[in-house]
Parts: sequence; structure tokens; C-alpha cells
Amino acid sequence: MTLLGEDIKTLIGLEGPISVERYMTMALSDPRYGYYMTRDPFGEKGDFTTSPEISQIFGELLGLWCADLWLRMGSPHAISLVELGPGRGTLMQDALRAMKRIKGVLQSVQVTLVETSPTLRKAQQNLLETFDLPIQWHNDVSSLPQLPTLLIANEFFDALPVRHYQMHNGKWHERLVGLNQHDELTFGLAQEPEAALIIEADEGSILERNLVGERIMHDLSAHIAQYGGAGIAIDYGHSQSGMGETLQALHHHRFVDPLEEPGEADLTTHVDFERLLDIARRQGNAISGPIVQADFLEALGIRQRGAALLKSAHSDQAKAIMSGLDRLMDRAPKQMGSLFKVISFYHPEMPKPAGFNE
Ligand SMILES: C[S@@+](CC[C@H](N)C(=O)[O-])C[C@H]1O[C@@H](n2cnc3c(N)ncnc32)[C@H](O)[C@@H]1O
Repeated sequence: MTLLGEDIKTLIGLEGPISVERYMTMALSDPRYGYYMTRDPFGEKGDFTTSPEISQIFGELLGLWCADLWLRMGSPHAISLVELGPGRGTLMQDALRAMKRIKGVLQSVQVTLVETSPTLRKAQQNLLETFDLPIQWHNDVSSLPQLPTLLIANEFFDALPVRHYQMHNGKWHERLVGLNQHDELTFGLAQEPEAALIIEADEGSILERNLVGERIMHDLSAHIAQYGGAGIAIDYGHSQSGMGETLQALHHHRFVDPLEEPGEADLTTHVDFERLLDIARRQGNAISGPIVQADFLEALGIRQRGAALLKSAHSDQAKAIMSGLDRLMDRAPKQMGSLFKVISFYHPEMPKPAGFNE
């Protein structure tokens, strides 16, 4: 068991079983041993790879998506560009480089990066200092600049802790993490039912709720309703809400038991896009999506940008460009082009963002 696992076991010994949400929060964000707090998890040597780490085109297109909106908003002289969970800073680096091509936009942006990990903040700082732009780091979304806002979140919502509830004897009970007779971490159910949950479901069904993500979406869409602008979120998940749990743990690109190595394995869940969009709509935002990543990138011109890069690439670079593009666009089931979905939420007076043709 990991050091954090021993801490969690001690806590459960003292206080009793804890919610899945608290377990995930500790596993991902414990200040000393939390997964994101201590490492750079990306790439072949890490645990997983994300779209901006696969191809520079991904961040470039998102930068141009923002620049296009800025132009169509009438080129406001002050705009807040926000990224949630920026990882190594690669997406923002590629986005800013592409935005530089559009006259005036970089002179107007104030960049805010919402990041809890000190290790990743440092990486972002190193990568972005060449732009000579005002960049602020925030721990959460509670105090974003009071300006029209363009906001990007790639693989952010999937990294937030969730709650699980299970239908047992006709009532919902919260699923908890406790200890079995061998003093190992195990899932169980709270004795008391959740009286406030009145969703009908079959016996044994599991309901997964990302209440942390829902609160963040509420705050973001309220911010956009007040100050104007648009947000875009890209993540793996489902277009319609449903039953079932999707908690998974990845270590060195392999799936492992989510209770086995807290702090050492990445824990994620699939995003419920229907619920997120519903929250944005109820805050008065217009919404687009979800659409699959392949359709979105195709509409933004990923093929044309790939062809332009190939013109000046030597053979190794050309191979990397092509394989990156294929990976992002692969529409086979469970591959990035179809598993990943894109949504946008925006002020009702904004033009419809690029890439959503439906
Ligand atoms: C799966 S990574 C995605 C990184 C990046 N967006 C990319 O596509 O490469 C999740 C990111 O969210 C950050 N993060 C996780 N929980 C967070 C939270 N509650 N608030 C802010 N950032 C968080 C992590 O430190 C990391 O930068």
C-alpha cells in the first residue's frame, strides 16, 4: 500500500468509512501525496497522454477558436482567457502561438490558469514565460477576472472527484470506502439511505454524480452570463445522463484497481455532458454540442493545418504529424475521435462558436 493509502486507512480507522468523493479528493489532491500534486503524469513515461501532448494542432485550433470569437465580439480591448487544468501548459502555448497571428488579440488578453498542482504550475510557468503576457494562477474559479471571458477546459472535468450511490432494498445509499477484515480498502454502502434522492432505478443500479464539476459549471456559466464570452469543454464522456459508474484508475498506461495505489494512479470518470449543458442553460447561457472530437476538429480545419505542416516537415516529423492527426481523429469505438466530446456554453448575445455545425 502507498503512504497515502496508509493515511487513508488510519483516517477510516478513526472516523469510519469515507465517501468516494473524499477518497478521490485525497488520492488526487492531498497536498503531500496527491497524484497531481507531486508529478508530471503525461507522456510515454507517465500514465496517460492528452490531445495537446499528441499534436500541436489541437492547441493551435483552440487558440484560433478563441481568436475568431474575439474578432466576432468586436475585438474588445480587454478579455480574459482562462484555462482550467492546463497540465504542462502545452495547449496554452500552442493556442497563444496561433493567436499571435491575429492582429491585436494578444495585446487584449489577460491569461488565467486554474491549477491546483504546484508541480504543474511550475511547468506551465516555464513553458509560457516567453510570451511576455500577464498570467495569473488561481486555485479555483471563484475569483476569475470580471471581464468578457473565453474559457478552455480539456480533460478537466474527468479529473474531479465524484459521488456514488447504489439502489439497495428500494432506496439509494451512498457508496463508501472502508476497510475489510484484512484491513484492505474496500467499497461498501452507508447504512442510512439518501432520503433526498428520489430517482427511480432497478435494484443494484449505481448513480454517479460529479457534484464538484457541477458546482464549477454553475459558477462558470453564471460568470459568462454576467460578463459575456464563451466556454469550451472537451473530455471523454457520454452525451446523455444514465445509470452506472465509470471510475477508472490508470498507472503507466494500464488500468489498475482504483483502491490499490491511491496517490500513484490517476483516477478519472466519464463526464455527463447532458447534466453540464443543462446547468449552463439554466444559468442563461446558449449551448452547443455535444459533438464528437473528430467532427469538431474536422470543422475547424485540422486536415488543412496538417497539410500545411507537412509541407515543411522532414520524414520523421511528417510521420509524427500524421500519427498524431490519426490518433486525434480516430472514430473507431473508444478511440479519441469518437470517445471525446466537445461542448460549448456562451452568452446568448454571442455569435455561435466555430466548429458546431448542428
Ligand atoms: C488530465 S489533466 C489535463 C491536462 C491538460 N488540460 C491537457 O489536456 O494536457 C488534469 C489537469 O487538471 C488539474 N486539476 C485537477 N484537479 C483540479 C482542480 N480541482 N482544480 C484545478 N485544476 C485541477 C491537474 O493538475 C491537471 O493539470
